[in-house]
Amino acid sequence: MAEATELFRKSDVPAHVPAECVIDFDLFAQPAPEEDFFEYWKKLQGEGRPDFVWTPYNGGHWIATRGEDIHTIYADHDLFSSRNILLPVERNEAIRVLPTSLDPPEHRPFRNLINHGLSPKVVRGLEPSIRELTVSLIEAFRARGHCEFASEFAELLPISLFLKMVNLPVEDRIKLKALSEQVNRPDGSMTPEEVNQGFYDYLMPVLLERRKNPGDDLFSQFLAGSIDGRPMTDGEAFELCMQVLIAGLDTVVSVLGFLMMFLARNPDHRRQLVADPAMIPPAVEEFLRRFPLVAIPRTVIRDMEFQGVTFKEGDLILVPTMLHGLDDRAYQCPLDVDFNRRIGIHSTFGAGVHRCPGSLLARAELRIFLEEWLSRIPDFDIAPGRTPKVLYGIVGTVVDLPLVWQA
Ligand code: HEM
Repeated sequence: MAEATELFRKSDVPAHVPAECVIDFDLFAQPAPEEDFFEYWKKLQGEGRPDFVWTPYNGGHWIATRGEDIHTIYADHDLFSSRNILLPVERNEAIRVLPTSLDPPEHRPFRNLINHGLSPKVVRGLEPSIRELTVSLIEAFRARGHCEFASEFAELLPISLFLKMVNLPVEDRIKLKALSEQVNRPDGSMTPEEVNQGFYDYLMPVLLERRKNPGDDLFSQFLAGSIDGRPMTDGEAFELCMQVLIAGLDTVVSVLGFLMMFLARNPDHRRQLVADPAMIPPAVEEFLRRFPLVAIPRTVIRDMEFQGVTFKEGDLILVPTMLHGLDDRAYQCPLDVDFNRRIGIHSTFGAGVHRCPGSLLARAELRIFLEEWLSRIPDFDIAPGRTPKVLYGIVGTVVDLPLVWQA
């Protein structure tokens, strides 16, 4: 415990960081429950604030606060490396994931395997399962007139679907979700080494068994793939499967939570979608712009001036995807949700070679969910007197969303 807490240490301000850039911002702090997650992040774009700020928390790092810079940094792997994708930087030594922590050209062969496993054809083939699962989860509580949306729906749909894709028992989701939480929202209760070991103890026997007896699941496909003409090592297979698992378990869950919190509080938007289900696909795009929730760092490759800021080799820059879709330099009234909005570039799925390979699957899940939920439960609200609970971190998420409706 002491070791884990030490990792969240504050650092001294380096000489090249101007005093006016220094702010107090802890990625893992949990603000008051009433605080809106997106408005909290958006304060980093406050008037008079420089476009790059620096915080001493979590080992000390920059934060890019403007959409255009966020997009450029994600896309430019020559200047901004992915070798550290966790904060504080020491956590990357204990928890290594592929291909996200690799830069090109090493990144490419691993990424090819993922692209193949999550291709448009694969996602189209999954749609009937997504719909079936969605309907059965909703029908389990519809007649009751209330549910806790995060645990009774949001955590179940993407996780059950993903565990089906990798042929793992759905009951294992609780253990795997708890470990993923400690990667994206560490609370100091486990050291990074313990988190890695937890994944290793779970995944390694599965992978060794699949090497001997391959199936048609995603993990077996990865194991059968080649890395520049050679087989993947056991260590690489572990790190690749762990990455896909964490990414698949923790993101759609979070978007579902935020968009349902919004729809519960905004009956007019809900009614638009109920009256005209053809609006659901554009609504999904608007929700993705409005509710981004991933903030990942990049490491500066060499000393340089970038947008008037002096970066030193090895500096870490946190790149919050939320501050692109919510940037008023990129979108007018960015906090408003407008299903007729023309959506331009945003960074919700990142950019460049690491851009999310699960974006098609995520879109299919969100669209099918809205179609099935709104045709069954068109009117709903947040339970009176209750405040939904949101957690902050590398991926923000909603963990308690009590909904009520007329049974
Ligand atoms: C709305 C839901 C999702 C969001 C917002 C999201 C967001 C992101 C972002 C921002 C990145 C870029 C990371 C970086 O550049 O360092 C990323 C990468 C990734 N995502 Fe997603 N993701 C979502 C859903 C999914 C799903 C459903 C899967 C898989 C089943 C997935 C798998 C991955 C993988 C494997 C990577 C790493 C790709 C690489 O490094 O080349 N994501 N995601």
